[in-house]
Amino acid sequence: MGDVYVLANQKGGVGKTTSTFNLGVALAEIGQEVLLIDLDPQAGLTYCAGYEPDELEETIFKCLLRDISPWDVIITTKYGVDLLPANIDLAVAEMQLLNVPARERRLTRVINHVREQYDFIIVDSQPSLGVLTINALAAANKVIIPVSCEYLSIRGTQALLKLIAKIRGQLNSGLEVAGLLPTMFDARTVHAREVIRILKTQFRDIHLYPYQVNRSIRFAESAAEQKPIFEAKLQVPGALAYRELARDLVKEKLRCSG
Ligand SMILES: Nc1ncnc2c1ncn2[C@@H]1O[C@H](COP(=O)(O)OP(=O)(O)OP(=O)(O)O)[C@@H](O)[C@H]1O
Ligand SMILES: [Mg+2]
Repeated sequence: MGDVYVLANQKGGVGKTTSTFNLGVALAEIGQEVLLIDLDPQAGLTYCAGYEPDELEETIFKCLLRDISPWDVIITTKYGVDLLPANIDLAVAEMQLLNVPARERRLTRVINHVREQYDFIIVDSQPSLGVLTINALAAANKVIIPVSCEYLSIRGTQALLKLIAKIRGQLNSGLEVAGLLPTMFDARTVHAREVIRILKTQFRDIHLYPYQVNRSIRFAESAAEQKPIFEAKLQVPGALAYRELARDLVKEKLRCSG
């Protein structure tokens, strides 16, 4: 049965979408069956994976609100991962969900249909702590929190951890924080190293992944070209972190199942 991870941080632009996509591709590279779920109306993940969100008729919106089977919506991408795509319709879902019974569990229902077929299901969430993100946290086993290596980025982490604690109490007792993933790390700056130090001391109880995703313009370029970072012409040091993370996730899965 698939492990369900959500990448969450209500701060915008910290690398949630980039991490979801590249981690997913790195997992597929090592033989895992992966489904990526775009749960952000901005649909950045759908775009990164090679699709024009506005041209898609069938998206996760219909699974959440019209009870369409996810199997009628899932796309097999050319990068070895499957995708449950989104587009701007998902913004309407936020409003419509308010009137639906058990509105926090709509995504859980969708995932339950497909969970047996995948090793990993990874959900990209939007930069807010609204009903869509709550759906993601209610459906997940584990949360990875990408944190960009800037001081302001740390501040939001506390609020997210509080929400996670609440969700654990009310909706999903098994929800764990898998770890904090430092992104946009620039080893040349004292500030970035200082942020790592603060993360270590301020969030002692939470696993800090021992590798960082380096800052590189290649990430924005790869996203624009709708390609994973591993296809960049020159090797990008930041890409290695995603491969290490993929290996760690597989090890963790084996540890838990064995
Ligand atoms: N390691 C990195 N180095 C430099 N730029 C990066 C890195 N990772 C991502 N980016 C770029 O930073 C921008 C924001 O990244 P991304 O979209 O992944 O963040 P996000 O957290 O998903 O944003 P949002 O909160 O809006 O959904 C994008 O242009 C992306 O290409
Ligand atoms: Mg995003």
